[in-house]
Amino acid sequence: MKKLAILASGSGSNAEKIMEHFQNSTKAKVALVASNKADAFVLERAKKFGVPAFTFTRKEMDAGLLLQKLQEEKIDWVILAGFLLKIPEDLIRAFPDHMVNIHPALLPKYGGKGMYGSLVHEAVKAAGDTETGITIHLVNEHYDEGKIIFQAAASVTPEDTPDTIAEKVHALEHRYFPEVIESLL
Ligand code: GRF
Repeated sequence: MKKLAILASGSGSNAEKIMEHFQNSTKAKVALVASNKADAFVLERAKKFGVPAFTFTRKEMDAGLLLQKLQEEKIDWVILAGFLLKIPEDLIRAFPDHMVNIHPALLPKYGGKGMYGSLVHEAVKAAGDTETGITIHLVNEHYDEGKIIFQAAASVTPEDTPDTIAEKVHALEHRYFPEVIESLL
């Protein structure tokens, strides 16, 4: 039984879909939800699924306490689902090809520093793109440049707003992220 840890900084709608997907699985279980925000709603979602939660500060993460916790819990896969801090290199190196991130755009477009959440959808809208989508990729020390595992696209029309684009992207995330994770195990 593989043990998954989800790292999230915010609402955790992706974390919820992943916990839902694996709650009766014989292949893997979500063993931990970890957040750098003590008030992140993802912690409420973990409680609902009976998944242990762990909160930490950036300083504690950079001091190695998150890595220590993941090793204590014998985590096999680290899933980033809306985690907004840069992952320390020693943490990335501790999970070679076993750390996965989801990005709300079709990388390499709209990736890199500062491109997260609605800023991505605003950039897609401003560029007049006719499609957007999601990218699920392995995390390496260059963050959004890890090996791309999966992409799915959605159309963007002139009537779309950053909010309606976000809705289309979230729908793709919720539909595919859990299955793509399972395909990696
Ligand atoms: C998602 O759009 C994901 O692509 C990005 O952060 C957002 C997390 O949303 N990395 P949620 O917290 O899972 O609702």
